[in-house]
Amino acid sequence: MQVVEANGARIPLIGLGTWDLRGRVCARMVEEALRLGYRHIDTAAMYDNEREVGEGLRASGIKRDEVFITTKVWQSDLRARAFEQSTKQSLVNLKLSEVDLLLIHWPNPNIPLAETMGALCKMKREGLARHIGVSNFTVALIEEAVRLATEPLVCNQIECHPFLDQSKVIAATRQHGMAVVAYSPVARGKAPGDRVLARVGKAHDKSAVQVCLRFLVQQDIVVIPRTSKSARLAENFAIFDFALTPAEMKEVGALASRRGRIVEWDGSPQWD
Ligand SMILES: NC(=O)c1ccc[n+]([C@@H]2O[C@H](COP(=O)([O-])OP(=O)(O)OC[C@H]3O[C@@H](n4cnc5c(N)ncnc54)[C@H](OP(=O)(O)O)[C@@H]3O)[C@@H](O)[C@H]2O)c1
Repeated sequence: MQVVEANGARIPLIGLGTWDLRGRVCARMVEEALRLGYRHIDTAAMYDNEREVGEGLRASGIKRDEVFITTKVWQSDLRARAFEQSTKQSLVNLKLSEVDLLLIHWPNPNIPLAETMGALCKMKREGLARHIGVSNFTVALIEEAVRLATEPLVCNQIECHPFLDQSKVIAATRQHGMAVVAYSPVARGKAPGDRVLARVGKAHDKSAVQVCLRFLVQQDIVVIPRTSKSARLAENFAIFDFALTPAEMKEVGALASRRGRIVEWDGSPQWD
């Protein structure tokens, strides 16, 4: 399994996203993914599926220390005490003594970042999380977070796919040695139907989705595609046996737009 190294962490380049996977489907997809070779699972307190993620992990028979598990603390729990409680509850749900990566899920402008960063760093110091990071942080917020952190931050998890220009936030993330983790990497269904991705894929006998994911991992961007279907687990994983040419990378890169965001809601940060 290829990994991205970032400030002491070794993050597997592909993981299974689990937002919206619930109950038995979630446990089954996690188990199947791990049996297929995935070694990275992305969950969050807000997804309400940490119990099932833990079940899938145990059912897979893969040793705990071979799997990289990420969870996140939701925006409403960023006060120090709530943050700690949320983290501890996540560990109870997962039936784990520590997660590999703990993230602030979304920034909350109503809670001082200094307080949240203090709590996040404490979780690492106390061994509840092997590594810590942030998600949905803008260029300005990354700078502030790095300044406030007393422990290394290893990633910024952001919406990232060929249809969205994230060049500024990617540069800021990398400037601090942090990995970029791409959420919604297949643009929630936009990638499968895209004609450019499909045409590029034809030359490699690959699908549009495989080209989409390859485009990201070829730039050392970690991807966490979600699927509820076994066949697609395998399809999304089969992206390490081909490479896009520089011309193809350029062509796919040209799909990006500043307005290409698909995940937006009232609590979204104002991006640079
Ligand atoms: N930090 C954050 O704020 C944040 C926000 C959003 C997401 N995330 C994380 O990122 C993960 C991935 O993002 P996402 O779930 O928003 O979107 P995504 O992975 O880009 O897209 C998921 C959708 O694509 C479909 N799909 C997956 N593989 C496919 C394939 N090979 N062919 C055709 N369709 C395919 C899935 O349908 P089927 O189930 O039918 O296959 C599903 O509807 C989440 O699950 C979550 O873990 C984090």
